[in-house]
Amino acid sequence: MPIVYDGATGVFHLFNRRISYYLGLSEHGLLQHLYFGSRLNKIDRRSMTDLGWDWSETYLGPDDVERRRTGFYSDRSLMELAPHGANDKRGAPVIIRYPDGSRLTAFFYRSHRIYTGKPDLGMLPCTRAGDSEATSLEFTLTDQAGTVECRLTYTVFENLDVIARNMTLRRLTDSDIRVLRAYTLELDLPESTYDLIHFCGDWAQERFLDRAPLHDGTQSFCSNYGRSSHEENPFALLAEPSATETTGQAYAFGLVYSGNFDFAASVSKWKTTRVLLGLGDFDFEWSLGEELVAPEALLAYSNEGIEHLSHTFHDLIRNNLIRYPAVAKPRPLLFNSWEGTLLTFDTEKIIRYIDEAARIGAELFVLDDGWFGRRDTDDRSLGDWTVNEGKVDLKTVIDHCHRRNMKFGLWFEPEMISYDSDLYRTHPEYALGGRKVERSLSRHQLVLDSSLPAAVDCIFAQMCAVLDAYEIDYVKWDHNRSVAEIASAATPSGEVYHRLVLGTYDLIDRLESRYPHVFFEGCASGGGRYDLGMLCYCPQIWTSDETDPIQRLFIQYGTSFAYPPSTMGAHVSKSAVTGYTTKAEIALFGTYGLEMDPGGLTDSERTEIMKVNEIYHRYHCDVIQNGTFYRLRSPFETNYAAFMSVAQDRKTALVFFANILKENNRFRFLKLRGLDPVREYRIAGDQSVYTGAYLLNVGINLTRWLDEFTSFLFILEAVE
Ligand code: GLA
Repeated sequence: MPIVYDGATGVFHLFNRRISYYLGLSEHGLLQHLYFGSRLNKIDRRSMTDLGWDWSETYLGPDDVERRRTGFYSDRSLMELAPHGANDKRGAPVIIRYPDGSRLTAFFYRSHRIYTGKPDLGMLPCTRAGDSEATSLEFTLTDQAGTVECRLTYTVFENLDVIARNMTLRRLTDSDIRVLRAYTLELDLPESTYDLIHFCGDWAQERFLDRAPLHDGTQSFCSNYGRSSHEENPFALLAEPSATETTGQAYAFGLVYSGNFDFAASVSKWKTTRVLLGLGDFDFEWSLGEELVAPEALLAYSNEGIEHLSHTFHDLIRNNLIRYPAVAKPRPLLFNSWEGTLLTFDTEKIIRYIDEAARIGAELFVLDDGWFGRRDTDDRSLGDWTVNEGKVDLKTVIDHCHRRNMKFGLWFEPEMISYDSDLYRTHPEYALGGRKVERSLSRHQLVLDSSLPAAVDCIFAQMCAVLDAYEIDYVKWDHNRSVAEIASAATPSGEVYHRLVLGTYDLIDRLESRYPHVFFEGCASGGGRYDLGMLCYCPQIWTSDETDPIQRLFIQYGTSFAYPPSTMGAHVSKSAVTGYTTKAEIALFGTYGLEMDPGGLTDSERTEIMKVNEIYHRYHCDVIQNGTFYRLRSPFETNYAAFMSVAQDRKTALVFFANILKENNRFRFLKLRGLDPVREYRIAGDQSVYTGAYLLNVGINLTRWLDEFTSFLFILEAVE
């Protein structure tokens, strides 16, 4: 059993072959953190908890002579669920406001159970694991007065160096209990010499890497945009300052959630580090009814650098998070109409696009924005999900597609509403902001109040009507503005942000259950909601509206720290920064698709695309979609971007290299990763053959003059 409890010492040990997580009960039943790292068969509990000096500080709770006598002070301890209000500048994961206004929040052990498998969260997305894949430890804790129960669950995975953490708060009395904060994750580490790495940016600049040392006090980032956002991502790393891709200790933290979140790393006066991650507490105040289920948090460890953390998350996402059953199967080559047509099209133009897209190899045609209501400009019709028959004869378009052996996909933006829409005219209360406040428009639109079940039902019914009437194989699910002015017609404002997300999950969950054959791709003005929550429902997410290939190198590189290339929507577009071959090779390290006016391509551009299409069909599924991805050179730190992906059997690999600024002749070798050292590999093109060991230790010779934005794609195949 990979979870063991030693009743004599009050110590719990969660482990797999490579990692150990130890926690213990304090004398008074508080959960103390002891250790998270490489597998350890034994722990010296005393050395982890006794700081060896006598002193006096604030103790926990109301006057308690006994506690004072035993000298347990939570603020100088490593905790699992630190109390709030006990003089601890690192902050606490949970804050409750009691009917008398007090907020002192501390949870004490009542019982535990250990079971195989892992919990399901009902309304919230989460990782899944069968009985042979994971084991869980569930604590039942209550506060001092016995008014609130906290169920805290840890799941250790058998083959992944990751711990999932779940938390549910439940009211045990009738009194008015408000939850002011409910962070799922706390990790206290006995050191503070770490770099914090997180992924921040903007529209068209999503997930740019930022790495800086921790220092005294708190470094935090969050989203209060109502979605996980372009600006930050609910994923971060702590790494030893010397840690590289392949060396050093590092931790990864991820939240399975798509709305507001908070991340904080605090260095205490004792030089410990506390990491907190969870549901954003911005404008959050939850009246605790039956229970509040917090989003799942994931915690991974590596003692062999950052790459291993990425591999852990990539595998977890592909195998245990995305629930689309055919996630590992080859995906049809996608063509999207947006950058070609924008909102201006008719049936004839779309038919022409389908024909042209078929000519360049498309197998799935996606009709983007503009097919519904009176949507000829982007200031109208969101919420009116009925086909604009006067503009496009959808049946003819879909039949044409299917006759050409192409699948058909359609764009929706279900969580938005336009002022100029029939839905708004009939149900103004479905728009967030009500009449109570001055509302901001962003892209001329308002946010649908999906915290209202009636609004969600209305959109569900409209989408079902379309999905029932037409043969649709794919849905692109967009979200083009962030959430502001959270006044709702019925939902208390402290609950709006979270209930919006719950409404969205409910909607997509119901649609996916009803249309299991439909493939859903996420999107939010590009990559504004690229997170573990949406990935549960959407096996791929549009990574960014930026299709300039050089910018994309940064975006896809940053995104790869948490998310596998198989999830990164990436299209070849008209962007003139490089030629089509480079653009297509970069898109290949995502999902690969096409998005331009296909009729505007020259013959030679078409030929360039078709050549990469061949590579897509031959290698993408095995090597990229289901393979192992390695970062070789960081565009954030060097003049190059280089990465590669290796098939699971290590017989085939694709390697990409690009330089950014021009470089003169110089020695330049690109050492590879993930190959089998004893095999021989043939590099397509010049047909040279090298051993894996040679390519791992010496590398591919790129000693030459490089003009700016020169790129190479190397295809390696094992010599049988
Ligand atoms: C967003 C998406 C684009 C496109 C447009 C349509 O910006 O990111 O890909 O779908 O909306 O309005």
